[in-house]
Amino acid sequence: MAQRVASSSPVTLKEVKADVRVKTYITGANDLLNAMGYTEHGHRHAGIVSTVTKYILSNIGASEREQELGSIAAYLHDIGNVVNRLHHPMIGATMAEDILWNLGMPADEIAPILGAIGNHEELAGQPISHMSAALIIADKGDVHFSRVQNPVLETFDIHDRVNYAVQKSRIELDNDKREIALTLEIDTQAATVMEYFEIFLSRMVMCRNAAETLGYRFVLSVNGTLLE
Ligand SMILES: [Fe+2]
Ligand SMILES: [Fe+2]
Repeated sequence: MAQRVASSSPVTLKEVKADVRVKTYITGANDLLNAMGYTEHGHRHAGIVSTVTKYILSNIGASEREQELGSIAAYLHDIGNVVNRLHHPMIGATMAEDILWNLGMPADEIAPILGAIGNHEELAGQPISHMSAALIIADKGDVHFSRVQNPVLETFDIHDRVNYAVQKSRIELDNDKREIALTLEIDTQAATVMEYFEIFLSRMVMCRNAAETLGYRFVLSVNGTLLE
C-alpha cells in the first residue's frame, strides 16, 4: 500500500488532476464505458462537471475551500466506472478515499466528497449536502452531441440519439428568482423531445430535488419552451 505523505498545504483540484492514478483510471473508466456502448465519461465529462459544480457552489455562497472540494468530488465522481458501471458511485467513493488520503487530504475534507460521489446516481442516491446537490445538477446537465462515441449513426441507441440531438446545454443560476435553469437546444431531427424525456425524466426529478436542497427551483427550458 502506498505510504501516506501528509500535505502541508490544502490539496487542490490541480494536484488531483495531475495524479497518475486519477489520470489513468478516468481514461480507463471511459474506455470501459466506450466498450459497453456508453457516451463519453472521460476527462471531458469530469472537467465540465467539475467546473459547473464549482460555479453552482460559488453562486450559492459556499466558501472558497468548499468550492474547491466540490470541484474535486465532481472531477472524481465517475472514476468507479473503471471497475464496473454497476455500483460505480460506491466503488468510486472508495477509490477516491484512498487517492485523496494518499495525496495528504485530511479525513474531515474527504468525508463530504465520499458522500457526494456515492450519491450522484438516481438509482441509489439522493442530494445529501450542498456539494452533493451541486454535483448532481452539473452531472445530469452534461448532455451534449460531443459525448457520443459511437461513430456509426445507423447503430445509435436512444442515449446516443438524445445526446447527439443536444446542440447546446447550459446551466445558470438566478439568485434573484432563486432558480437553477438548464437550457437545452435540441435538434428534433435527431431525437424528439419525447425521447429526451424518456431517458431523462428520472434525472430531471433528481435535479429538482437537488435544486430544492440548495433552496432553489429547477427550471428546464427546451428549445425556448419552459418546462416547470
Ligand atoms: Fe455516474
Ligand atoms: Fe457523470
